[in-house]
Amino acid sequence: MNVDKKAFTLTDNRSGKTYELDVLKGTDGPDVIDVRKLYSETGHFAYDPGFTSTGSCQSEITFIDGEKGVLLYRGYPIEQLAEKSNFLEVCYLLIYGNLPISESMRIFSQRITYHTMLHEQLNLLFKGFRRDSHPMAIMNGVVGALSSFYHDSTDITDPRHRFIASTRMIAKMPTIAATAYRYSKGLPFAYPRNDLGFSENFLYMMFSNPCEEYVTNPILSRAMDRILMLHADHEQNASTSTVRISGSSGANPFACIAAGIASLWGPAHGGANEAVLAMLKEIKTKDRVPEYIKRAKNKEDPFRLMGFGHRVYKNFDPRATILRQSAHEVLGDLGIEDDPILDLALELEQIALKDDYFVSRKLYPNVDFYSGIIYRALGIPTSMFTVLFAVARTVGWVAQWNEMIEDPTQKIGRPRQLYTGETERDYVDVKDR
Ligand code: CMC
Repeated sequence: MNVDKKAFTLTDNRSGKTYELDVLKGTDGPDVIDVRKLYSETGHFAYDPGFTSTGSCQSEITFIDGEKGVLLYRGYPIEQLAEKSNFLEVCYLLIYGNLPISESMRIFSQRITYHTMLHEQLNLLFKGFRRDSHPMAIMNGVVGALSSFYHDSTDITDPRHRFIASTRMIAKMPTIAATAYRYSKGLPFAYPRNDLGFSENFLYMMFSNPCEEYVTNPILSRAMDRILMLHADHEQNASTSTVRISGSSGANPFACIAAGIASLWGPAHGGANEAVLAMLKEIKTKDRVPEYIKRAKNKEDPFRLMGFGHRVYKNFDPRATILRQSAHEVLGDLGIEDDPILDLALELEQIALKDDYFVSRKLYPNVDFYSGIIYRALGIPTSMFTVLFAVARTVGWVAQWNEMIEDPTQKIGRPRQLYTGETERDYVDVKDR
């Protein structure tokens, strides 16, 4: 990181005092004004709800250029990874920083495979949930409970513990997700099959039936793998920032990832993929699209077009471009010639992309607009959509959490506030109120 010493001058127009702040330069993206000493030097805090102008950390993992629609994992464009790589290799890349040579990849895959099974006692925990629980609620509870099972990997000061905890989470997340699904369906729990690839094994654990032989379908597993790659990391989004801020207090990694899952569940974040499908089902027919566009534009109406808009992408979401094409390919490969939901989605997209409200606010379809359409074609039930996002994002959370722990400048996350409540007043006895 380069520092332009005192490159930025801040003037307090009330007192005429000026303050000189350093400007930090990363390898790409906008420069950053270093405000760490702002309070000690000026007596003021910065006010930035939603962190729209605040960088919370230094990171070498993921880069986004929202204006140009660029997403890089460790420098590699998402388009190239989606075409040429696979999810497990992307996990390696995000964690270690470089693409693996074959032997390193073999060892890494073996380690992940070794940890896919759950502690048998965890199965009892699943059985304590109501059958109709949302699988994200189960994920949240079960992942949080991992810290009560794996005491040998919760010492965050020990790199070996951190590595084992990270590996466990990447490996066990698909098993937890599939078990949550099978529990809701009343199906017997399936053990992982370590002879299968990551995505193949996940589909096997979801859809196998003990009474029949399970036949893997390469079209389905490749489509799944691609979606997982696209969701693997996205720099300092809400759930990743939640993981980082939870971890900044020294909390154990399983608890931090459970916190990330809770944040991801919201419809403004990972819950949007489920919300998109619910919205399309509610719209039902193309002739009702204009009515919903009108509602989305009405400030009195809380309705928003789900799957549209992004805090960072202001021209297009590169993940959405890949998935749009992937949706057509998957439906074609599966022989689904006419999908009314995809037709409806395309109609909505076309109308919104021409509408001045959406154009002027730079609201474009995001990754979640198309992922649900593919999941649906793969036979994944709607309630599992956000769970799949969590399965994929676990590697991003883990990589970012490790980076934070290893960062010598890391401090506990502790924002300040602009207090607007009562000033000091005396307690009044109940009889006198
Ligand atoms: N439909 C209608 N209006 C919208 C939408 C939408 N989906 N998104 C933003 N706007 C309007 C918003 O009302 C505001 O208008 P105005 O300037 O007139 O007040 C303007 O656009 C800016 O919106 P914002 O809420 O200030 O933007 P934000 O950066 O805080 O929010 C967002 C980003 C993704 C939360 C938001 O666009 C949204 O709620 N989208 C729908 C949910 C969704 O698809 N989320 C998935 C995000 S991608 C996956 C992930 O990374 O989690």
